[in-house]
Amino acid sequence: MSDDSEPWYRTAVFYEVAVHSYADSNGDGIGDLQGLTERLAYLEWLGITAIWILPIFPSPMRDGGYDVSDYLGIRPEFGDFDDFRTLIEQAHRRGIRVITDFIVNHTSNQHPWFQEARLPGSRKRDWYVWTDDPSTYSEARVIFVDTHTSNWAWDEVAGQYYWHRFFDHQPDLNYDNPAVRDAIADAMRFWLDMGLDGLRLDAVPYLFEREGTNCENLPETHAYLKEIRSMIDDEYPGVVLLAEANQRPEDLLAYFGDGDECHMAFNFPIMPLLFLAVASDDATVVAKELAATPDIPRGCQWSVFLRNHDELTLEMVTSTQRAALYDAYAPDPAMRKNVGIRRRLAPLLNGDRRKIELLHAVLLSLPGSPVMYYGDEIGMGDDIVLPDRDGVRTPMQWNPTPSAGWSDADPTHFYLPVVSDDAYGPNRVNVHDERADEHSLLSAVRNLIAMRPPAFGTAAFKVLNPGDPRVLAIARGEFTVAANFSSAPLTVRCGTDSYVAGNGTIKGNSVSLPPYGWLWMGPA
Ligand code: GLC
Ligand code: CA
Repeated sequence: MSDDSEPWYRTAVFYEVAVHSYADSNGDGIGDLQGLTERLAYLEWLGITAIWILPIFPSPMRDGGYDVSDYLGIRPEFGDFDDFRTLIEQAHRRGIRVITDFIVNHTSNQHPWFQEARLPGSRKRDWYVWTDDPSTYSEARVIFVDTHTSNWAWDEVAGQYYWHRFFDHQPDLNYDNPAVRDAIADAMRFWLDMGLDGLRLDAVPYLFEREGTNCENLPETHAYLKEIRSMIDDEYPGVVLLAEANQRPEDLLAYFGDGDECHMAFNFPIMPLLFLAVASDDATVVAKELAATPDIPRGCQWSVFLRNHDELTLEMVTSTQRAALYDAYAPDPAMRKNVGIRRRLAPLLNGDRRKIELLHAVLLSLPGSPVMYYGDEIGMGDDIVLPDRDGVRTPMQWNPTPSAGWSDADPTHFYLPVVSDDAYGPNRVNVHDERADEHSLLSAVRNLIAMRPPAFGTAAFKVLNPGDPRVLAIARGEFTVAANFSSAPLTVRCGTDSYVAGNGTIKGNSVSLPPYGWLWMGPA
């Protein structure tokens, strides 16, 4: 599967997939596990070596399944445990690992634990976080600023306020309660026993609350994660824990512990800067952020990404940068969501193939393991008319028919509509046609993955100075990467003379790059 001396996730190419939107095997208008299993051949062809599956727990689906009503079940529309085991088996047969989302911080208010906790005198009351005084923990920010002004919500039945960092239908679990910590660890075991290769720990900075703090990244949270890691090391060696912590680098680093906490963490700070660099013809922000990216403990790995199922978060940039990003990428206020932009990769970049390929080339060569978002490999569009973040979660476009070949149901029964605009509808953007065309975006992305040296996952990195702010140059072990973030053709010096991939030309140690051009150089 991979270089034996390296843990698998350090050389993996990840692919994030929303089961409900990928492929519907039984024609009910909702994607399912069997549908995904049937598409594994496509993912193998694309060069994907690990998939990350968005939540499949039973859920009222008021937050895309991040509102869990049962940790020990599967949403019936998605299939059953046999379907899930089959998916894992079939993926493994193709050399593809499988990780799933695990929602640690909160449940749905429909979870039986919460329903019981609300009842007066309930023994489960302290499974959640309650107060009589909603000024408690007032230093914690509100995350979903478009829909909420407080992290406390009043519960009529309980006669108290309960704590929620996200939607008010998602009460936070109380990690001070050992019974909660044990129940969550047991639920993880339940899933890992089915052969899973890892868990994405959703919203992991917010597990504990303490007065006088912002209730994020607390030492208690790290202590619990170390306990979980030690369970993984003892009982499930090889399984990876991936932290979703939208935090500054120094706070993020803590999620690796001393190599005894999470194996991986998303690199949130670098992501919006890639978009800022393309918009401003200036790669300096990326170079600076990379240079400031701390070394991580042995065996750990960053997850790097361009887009995902959420809004393109702008929480980690300065207010000036945020304004520039909103200006460039969200001219219509409907494109904005919370502190971010709810659009997909291709429309963000105006469908400009040069920019889309540049960012993929950079993504695949940044320190870390890349995580691609389903549909971005074919240049799928979005639908800002749909509520919340649904516009970036529309059905995968497999073929040029109006239903995109993802479901046989009557389109009026589709869980979410297929993107239908002229530029991004299935007649223009789909797997079938792009697979047949060697000049398509899909073919380009597939070639990039195929040519990506494993060293991009594992080698040390160093930011180089190419002498032009418009060019990002980084050394990755024996390799050099040069990327032109501007619309001008440029020639820079970045010292190597062997070509691996890209659309620039090399003469001695001088490198010529077309607008938005890039080169991977090094031992072929
Ligand atoms: C994570 C998920 C997001 C969800 C939130 C609350 O940030 O990525 O989709 O809404 O957690 O569960
Ligand atoms: Ca179905």
